[in-house]
Amino acid sequence: EHGLESPDYPWPHSGILSSYDHASIRRGHQVYQQVCASCHSMSLIAYRDLVGVAYTEEETKAMAAEIEVVDGPNDEGEMFTRPGKLSDHFPSPYPNEQAARFANGGAYPPDLSVITKARHNGQNYIFALLTGYREPPAGVSVREGLHYNPYFPGGAIAMPKMLNDGAVEYEDGVPATEAQMGKDIVTFLAWAAEPEMEERKLLGFKWILVLSLGFIAAGYQRRMRWSIMK
Ligand code: HEM
Repeated sequence: EHGLESPDYPWPHSGILSSYDHASIRRGHQVYQQVCASCHSMSLIAYRDLVGVAYTEEETKAMAAEIEVVDGPNDEGEMFTRPGKLSDHFPSPYPNEQAARFANGGAYPPDLSVITKARHNGQNYIFALLTGYREPPAGVSVREGLHYNPYFPGGAIAMPKMLNDGAVEYEDGVPATEAQMGKDIVTFLAWAAEPEMEERKLLGFKWILVLSLGFIAAGYQRRMRWSIMK
């Protein structure tokens, strides 16, 4: 069963030449870290991916150093823990899927690394889903432990409403309304799933430019060549 089709939101990065809103990526990362990371991994993303995108190298190093990473074996054959570094990937909240399901009443919080690509109409769907919790309509009952959400296939989701006004306090002072956090987390997730988008658009533009110049040059030459025949 399909969920309610999500509206099309005007993402600032969706234009043919638009880049991401990097302040929004940074706020979105803050939402991920403070709200989503307790249940959802993003195991394809490494700290260094954030450098120059949302944070400086110094900021990112300090952030990575806050996690504890199991490493090893060392020369004595022992495992040990050390502070995280730039090459480490984001930590997972659960050791495995079984533990994740156990903690979430049997439901599995999917990894969010490429979630905007993994779902139909991903960015619009996730925004609509996160901001789409409401009271069930008269006559609709939702099983214990599930939450009514018309955008989720089946209409009842194990994830509770997470984006409540003020759920985070943004470093840049932007008011953390539900819609603002929704926009920011989706921008962050869109970037995570397609970090090379800006480069791709720029490359496409260069090709168009080069080809157009080629056509103009060819057209001009054709006129010169054939001018004596006219
Ligand atoms: C599912 C995003 C926070 C638990 C999902 C899905 C997305 C998502 C995109 C997939 C929906 C689908 O399958 O179509 C987020 C974001 C969060 C967040 C962006 C932070 C703003 C949390 C938290 C928890 C959680 C904190 C745990 C308390 C779950 C569970 C599911 C889920 C259990 C599976 C739902 C089901 O299959 O019924 N989430 N989530 N999520 N999330 Fe979250």
